[in-house]
Amino acid sequence: MEVVINPAFDTMPTETTYTYDEAVIKGRKPDYPIHPLLLSRTSPREMTGEDLSDKVLMTLFEAARWAPSFYNQQPWRFLYAKRNTEHWDKFHDLVWPLNLQWCEPASALVVVVSHRLFFMKGDNTKELPNPTHSFDTGAACMALALEASARDLVVHCMAGFDYEKAYEVFGVDKARDSIDCMIAIGKRPALSDRSTETRIAPRHPVDRFVFEGGFEVNNNVEKTANNEN
Ligand SMILES: Cc1cc2nc3c(=O)[nH]c(=O)nc-3n(C[C@H](O)[C@H](O)[C@H](O)COP(=O)(O)O)c2cc1C
Repeated sequence: MEVVINPAFDTMPTETTYTYDEAVIKGRKPDYPIHPLLLSRTSPREMTGEDLSDKVLMTLFEAARWAPSFYNQQPWRFLYAKRNTEHWDKFHDLVWPLNLQWCEPASALVVVVSHRLFFMKGDNTKELPNPTHSFDTGAACMALALEASARDLVVHCMAGFDYEKAYEVFGVDKARDSIDCMIAIGKRPALSDRSTETRIAPRHPVDRFVFEGGFEVNNNVEKTANNEN
């Protein structure tokens, strides 16, 4: 399925054809109809090992750039390494072996950092804790993931890596910055070369996590927590 782009939007990359993953769209049944871009984003594990151009990589970070954030603080920071560069091993060696089984052929590995502090406008003397640094950075990651998905690229978040080592390797001061996650970015194989089974992670129904008026008595956050995968 090819997305038709309105040429009136001159920020749209004319050289890019946006696509949706039809196999995923067919396999996901929303309770309420939503935009196919949201439905077709997945976290694929198949990558070709090919390089991504700097332009494409920066385009993904550009998507992240436009995420909303508290006080417009834009607390996200992305450290990255492209494969076949001097930086690769530093990033690669953080990743747990279970994740390396599939993300070895990534084109880029990213460490996502969020800045914990902010200044109120007009007062640059006192830094305050930013209550939404990770929340905003998650939103930026989602924007990046959606742009990548529409370009038929892999964006796969990973918590399965050595956080402590990452703080050390990158000299990140825990009091000021939080290492939130890693991301594997890569090229997907051609449609004909993909594994026949598209992994479609299920979701809870909307009424499992949305509560009009607040939690009911005996229906608190813990009781609605997810232990299924
Ligand atoms: C913060 C975060 C950390 C994750 N960590 C891992 C990971 O370490 N390894 C992995 O294979 N998938 C990881 N995932 C991917 C999730 O398993 C995946 O998003 C979830 O199963 C839903 O599937 P979908 O993204 O294809 O819709 C992570 C996702 C997020 C958002």
